[in-house]
Amino acid sequence: MASFISGLLFLFLLMGGAWPAVSQPSEPTDPMCYDWGESRKGAVSVLEGEAGWLTCPLFSHPSVYNFTSTQNARHNLIWYHLPEGHYLEQPIRHNWWLSKERERLWLQPAASSDSGWRLSKERERLWLQPAASSDSGLYICMLRNKSSCSKIAMQLKVLQRDEAVRRTDCEPPVAVAATPMVIELHHGAMLDCPDLENVTNVADSKPDVSWLHVTQETSTCVKSEKWNSDREQKGARIQVHVMLKYYQGLYFCSVVYQRGGRNLSFTRSINVTAVYPTTLPKEPSILHPALDQVFTVRPDSEVRLVCRALFPGILRSPWWEIWWTVDGKTLDTLSDQHRFSQSNSVVNEDMGDKMVENQLLIHDFNSQDLKSEFNCSVRNEKGWDTRRAQLEEEVSVPSLELACGLGVTLVLMVLLFVLYHVFWLELLLIYRSWFGTDERHTDDKEYDVYISYARNSEEETFVLSTLRKVLENEFGYSVCIFDRDSLPGGTITDETLSFVARSRRLLVVVSPGYASRGSQALLELKAGIDGMALGGHLRVILVQYRPVRRRGWVRELRRARVALALVRWKGDKSRELTSRFWKRLRVELPVRRAGSREEGEGSSKEAGLMRLYSQNSTNSQTGLLSSPVRDPQTDLDSAA
Ligand SMILES: *[C@@H]1O[C@H](CO)[C@@H](O)[C@H](O)[C@H]1NC(C)=O
Ligand SMILES: *[C@@H]1O[C@H](CO)[C@@H](O)[C@H](O)[C@H]1NC(C)=O
Ligand SMILES: *[C@@H]1O[C@H](CO)[C@@H](O)[C@H](O)[C@H]1NC(C)=O
Ligand SMILES: *[C@@H]1O[C@H](CO)[C@@H](O)[C@H](O)[C@H]1NC(C)=O
Repeated sequence: MASFISGLLFLFLLMGGAWPAVSQPSEPTDPMCYDWGESRKGAVSVLEGEAGWLTCPLFSHPSVYNFTSTQNARHNLIWYHLPEGHYLEQPIRHNWWLSKERERLWLQPAASSDSGWRLSKERERLWLQPAASSDSGLYICMLRNKSSCSKIAMQLKVLQRDEAVRRTDCEPPVAVAATPMVIELHHGAMLDCPDLENVTNVADSKPDVSWLHVTQETSTCVKSEKWNSDREQKGARIQVHVMLKYYQGLYFCSVVYQRGGRNLSFTRSINVTAVYPTTLPKEPSILHPALDQVFTVRPDSEVRLVCRALFPGILRSPWWEIWWTVDGKTLDTLSDQHRFSQSNSVVNEDMGDKMVENQLLIHDFNSQDLKSEFNCSVRNEKGWDTRRAQLEEEVSVPSLELACGLGVTLVLMVLLFVLYHVFWLELLLIYRSWFGTDERHTDDKEYDVYISYARNSEEETFVLSTLRKVLENEFGYSVCIFDRDSLPGGTITDETLSFVARSRRLLVVVSPGYASRGSQALLELKAGIDGMALGGHLRVILVQYRPVRRRGWVRELRRARVALALVRWKGDKSRELTSRFWKRLRVELPVRRAGSREEGEGSSKEAGLMRLYSQNSTNSQTGLLSSPVRDPQTDLDSAA
């Protein structure tokens, strides 16, 4: 009422041509003025060229300051502006103008060259019609009467049109953050353009509102004229008849209106999201750990327990909680809370339904912790749930070590396989030398080897100069060679049979003419095969000095070949004592341990005596028979 009267007064002054009639506000430095500082609501943003307004924050708490009641207490509301980069606030000098239809005061900065009345004060608001970039800065509204005063400051930011955040080019720039709105699926809803009611009261005509939908997923812009019948624009509002998932996204309303002969506009947006209908259960549920799930943990390590829960979307009530307890206590009440930490994250969000994960990290997990009760709890407006995480100590061998062990075993096996294939003869010899039984302890035979060969042949030289010498001198076997060892005067048949029977092995050196009809070799072979067949601890070994065609063999030999070992002489390659020939031969011959060498030497001394004797008595056909007193090494050399 007071301002109405003063307004009238100033109208008269205006009529009288007193221009400019300036109402100078009282000193802002009045010590009586109570300063509320800067409003904590944050800066007000307005797009340059759009209509905007500042509402004095003193009136945001109507119980403290009520505009109507302050007017009754003869308070005056005065605005000051501190432009950006300035240090001195200036009162907004205003020309008073009473508009035609109601009490309205138009203001204009004194320095402004604006042709019209760009700034106006209306009740608790200061209008920017439209905003200019120079309007940015700090604004102070001061409420005072003769005896009391209070003031508060606020920031105004005038954004350039390209400063506004936009997702797509078809989106209009907006200075104000989108208003969130949640709509139930398959339900209806009404969308009102935010702040529209602020201008409907002051506009000269009905504001014109146009709507645009920017879809959430594809960010395509669809004007309201192109919408289908599920949603439509009714006047300034949007009526959604049936909410669908596709209808989520940003809705932009552009408001155009006239005021004081000016065309003004502003744009706002609404962020529409859908939730599943309230008819569905809305209680939170724990998905992980499952009811019978067991966590395996390793003591003295860092243990991570994950709790995952589903919070169904609730209209207008988005709060939810998820937390861990240890023996019923929340983490911040634990005595050793530094060992525990938890963190929340929204894993997934679908139509308001949130999948939330909470990770509990336990440092230095100890065996005492194994006995504790770790519970994960969830809560929202509609209900709660709790679940215990069952812990179990890890017992199995860590998989890495297991894999390593397996790998090593495999490599070893391959290695052994290769080793066996390359060195099987050597391995066999070593095995025999350790575990083989010395046949000398179990039988009463005199000779280790009886050598049977074709007389007057290449093989005879081989037998006498090489085979015999190595077997006797190098390996320490006692060798029986009929022509050397038999005593003169006996029956050849009887003596042969007796010698063969007294030998552990019959070494047959096969050659083309071996065991021809009626020869002594045939007798020896038959005796050997018979001895073997009768189980008389005799074994026949075939040695092949030079390749022989099987067809040239006597029948007995051909038959015997199937069951007998054949050791082949490979010329010079076989001369070395380490060659395959000698190794194979030793495998077939009786076991001689390293320690039993002396024994063997003993028996070979015996044999040497006999040989000395036989050398004198038997006539040597080749003259290659060596004397046992000669150095075996020179013997070998001469043989080679
Ligand atoms: C302000 O006070 C008047 C009476 O003094 C009252 O009618 C009005 O409702 C109040 N306004 C608010 C927003 O509290
Ligand atoms: C000024 O306002 C205060 C309350 O804010 C009131 O008590 C006082 O009476 C007013 N002074 C005048 C002169 O109206
Ligand atoms: C709209 O709201 C949803 C859910 O609150 C949010 O994920 C999305 O980022 C918002 N979009 C914009 C553009 O603010
Ligand atoms: C922990 O959760 C189980 C259900 O899994 C419940 O029976 C028990 O009472 C809970 N303990 C506490 C201390 O809340």
